[in-house]
Amino acid sequence: MDSVKVALLGFGTVGEGVYDTIHSHQKRLQALLGKKVEIVGVLVRDQNKKRKIHSETLVTSNMDRILEIPDLDVVIEAIVGIEPGYTYLKKAMETGCHVITANKELLAHKGKELREYAEQYSVRLEFEAAVAGGIPAIGTFKQLLKVNRISKIEAILNGTSNYILSDIASNQKNFDQALASAQEKGYAEANPDNDIDGWDALFKLTILSDLLYGIQPEWEKMVHIGIRNLALEHIEFAQALGMKIKHVASIELIEGEARLSVEPVMVGQDHPLYGVDGVNNALAITGDLVGQILLQGPGAGALPTASAIIEDFVNLFQTEAQTKVQQDVTLAPSLSDEMQEWVLIGSDLPSNGIPILNKYSVPAGNTMIQGWRVAGSEREIRSLVSGDPKMKGYRIALTGQKDKILVSH
Ligand SMILES: NC(=O)c1ccc[n+]([C@@H]2O[C@H](COP(=O)([O-])OP(=O)(O)OC[C@H]3O[C@@H](n4cnc5c(N)ncnc54)[C@H](OP(=O)(O)O)[C@@H]3O)[C@@H](O)[C@H]2O)c1
Repeated sequence: MDSVKVALLGFGTVGEGVYDTIHSHQKRLQALLGKKVEIVGVLVRDQNKKRKIHSETLVTSNMDRILEIPDLDVVIEAIVGIEPGYTYLKKAMETGCHVITANKELLAHKGKELREYAEQYSVRLEFEAAVAGGIPAIGTFKQLLKVNRISKIEAILNGTSNYILSDIASNQKNFDQALASAQEKGYAEANPDNDIDGWDALFKLTILSDLLYGIQPEWEKMVHIGIRNLALEHIEFAQALGMKIKHVASIELIEGEARLSVEPVMVGQDHPLYGVDGVNNALAITGDLVGQILLQGPGAGALPTASAIIEDFVNLFQTEAQTKVQQDVTLAPSLSDEMQEWVLIGSDLPSNGIPILNKYSVPAGNTMIQGWRVAGSEREIRSLVSGDPKMKGYRIALTGQKDKILVSH
């Protein structure tokens, strides 16, 4: 029987998950493709490490040996970092292979170049697994929301930071304790900077903005605030107001300009992201025809990620290449002048004319924490907060929810 020949680059959590899935779902794949799927090569860094790989499969640390495999059809990349993945995927495309990657860092930096390369060599580049793991986010945009004009996405794209925020809120831990718990459970890496400083979410947001609007923003132009050292008191403050603090990656299209941000925001109980806790990811998507929909599910892990990759793999043979770029969109300037609602937490609110909608005083241990719900532009609020190290500001993702308690005025 004729076969589809596949090489895996990387055999860690994701690579091994794909390897196992291709074997466990071989019958289903054959039924869908009419061909056997054969893993003919695996590229790793250390070829002497013991691995559960059939003896007839080539295991090597030399990419040239993978590229020499005759009639190789598809290369699936699951290595970490921009290089060597970038070079390897270009070489694979040069030899006529379709490529699938889970590597968000690579796509966030080199997605445009890889897309152009794929066009030049008439091969496909697919990357469902790179954004929100097992959630079919990319496929939903490319295949199910082709006509909808997407005006807003608010998303939880990093399971580690969502787990930490949920753990602090549910178990009254401080940030360090919740991070240690995430590391113990295997949700956070030994070096968690990419997750808690928001880089990982930023990479994924950039992939989405490229897919939807053809925009790969310059990093420094994007608001990008992590959750490092977020105070337990602020999370309790949000709870007292009937809200939660979530690390939200968002894209909003206003008058042809796309505004991108990654930051901790307060969400009320009516907001679709309010109930998304633990390691889950979710995307609240607003399209002009469909209205608002919520996609929610596992954002990482061996099988959810393999699920995304294997669906991409089958689509290579069953669907035409899809693009979803709204052409007439530009990147919005760095700070917004649009009026929004915020919760400010601090000791004293300077009298600078910002309209105060509500004042709160919430007990925390033996003291009371002061806060204000205010209306202001991002430019005004960021400037106010940057001038006062004791003041923190959280944008409210508005859904019309009402404050639960207002302790004193
Ligand atoms: N883990 C997830 O849940 C998840 C979800 C979505 C996307 N992703 C993305 O998928 C990619 C892989 O993640 P992972 O969690 O599977 O990583 P991982 O467990 O650290 O595995 C990385 C694999 O790449 C191999 N490798 C590293 N450097 C290499 C090099 N220079 N040449 C050849 N092979 C090399 C390693 O080889 P050795 O085995 O010899 O060390 C290992 O097999 C990353 O880009 C990640 O962002 C991961």
